[in-house]
Amino acid sequence: MSLPGAPFLARDGAELKLEGHALTDLAQEHGTPLFVYSRAAMLHALAAYQRALQGRPHLICYAVKANSTLAVLQTFARAGCGFDIVSGGELARVLAAGGNPAQVVFSGVGKTRDEMRQALLAGVRCFNVESLGEMDKLDDVARSQGRRAPVSLRVNPDVDAGTHPYISTGLKGNKFGIAHDQALAAYQHAASLPGLQVVGIDCHIGSQITQIEPYLDALDRMLDLVEAVERSGIAIHHVDVGGGLGIHYTDEKPPDAAVLVQRIAQRLDARGHGGRELLFEPGRSLVGNAGVLLTEVLYLKPGRADQGGKNFCIVDAAMNDLVRPAMYQATMAIEPCRVCDAEAATWDVVGPVCESGDWLGRDRALSVLPGDVLAILSAGAYGMTMASNYNTRPRAAELLLDGARVHLIRQRESVSSLFADERLIDS
Ligand code: LLP
Repeated sequence: MSLPGAPFLARDGAELKLEGHALTDLAQEHGTPLFVYSRAAMLHALAAYQRALQGRPHLICYAVKANSTLAVLQTFARAGCGFDIVSGGELARVLAAGGNPAQVVFSGVGKTRDEMRQALLAGVRCFNVESLGEMDKLDDVARSQGRRAPVSLRVNPDVDAGTHPYISTGLKGNKFGIAHDQALAAYQHAASLPGLQVVGIDCHIGSQITQIEPYLDALDRMLDLVEAVERSGIAIHHVDVGGGLGIHYTDEKPPDAAVLVQRIAQRLDARGHGGRELLFEPGRSLVGNAGVLLTEVLYLKPGRADQGGKNFCIVDAAMNDLVRPAMYQATMAIEPCRVCDAEAATWDVVGPVCESGDWLGRDRALSVLPGDVLAILSAGAYGMTMASNYNTRPRAAELLLDGARVHLIRQRESVSSLFADERLIDS
């Protein structure tokens, strides 16, 4: 089985290399924990979508939440991407990275008035509206600025994406979107509001999806709605099918982005909607396999049979750096950066944070010694963006590899910056 992240991530003799750079050397030079990304791997993942969409009106809106570091956004902006944002903060990042606001779609169930104002001023491409209350508020904000806000309704198609319950978003019981059976009335309400301009339809059914069928089911439901909405005299320009395509972490076999795009495009054509602009909001599938998290082994704590026999490999990265294992019981591959000849054993790879839930990998067969560097693979998505300062741990540094060049794109956080905004009280 090839490594997740291949061919950009590969074993060369004893050394694990990303875009040709030995990861042990990068860890030695820049310290750990350290996120390392391959720019070529990101552009390669994007190219699969781009090639499959060629010749058809489309916009790929990279989902900023997956990895919002400025140089990553800059990479996608330069490659012609739009962006899917969910906060005013993400909008500010996109603008700081040189993204084009006219290619930004603004998603999220809880947009505030301030965020709406900010996005209208910037001139975003559209708001993916998720409730009637949000529609009324946006209408009010837009009119107070003398503008019309472009809107797309996020429809909840009630389709099971077959993924972890925390990252499944297109089912009736989820907080997301406007219920499918209420969407026609919602479109009619939107069209009656002078501050809104209906431009599209949107859905996002979940994340780490490894099958195509849920996308096609959701698309069919959206197209039924498009037809009903247009019959009622409201024009819909674009169809946004969201993000969610899964990646290879350990043994998943998600479809290629190109195949997913082709199947969606074929369905659009077959139903006579081929001329519509097609939007995608991929996050994980563009950056997930382009990154690794490097961490040094601090201590080995072999288990005693009378304690259940667990062996703990204690590393310097923790749940605050990478929360996916603790939060979703996610299994992410862990590889030594340099193969060593220590005896193999089965280890739970855990961090220094004071929680039993602070684990990065369970029951992993590894040959390791203290001081070795391990790579947690597929950490390019929802790694740094979900990192916290729990236990007053500064967040990791980040490197972006670009051929022979190594760019430090985020310095390691300093401890003093963590409490710089705090004040002691007068006695
Ligand atoms: N569009 C919308 C409206 C979304 O909510 C999301 C992700 C995306 C696009 C991008 O989805 P992607 O292509 O990355 O699957 N923290 C979780 C994933 C949460 C996804 C939230 N929404 C994880 O680490 O697995």
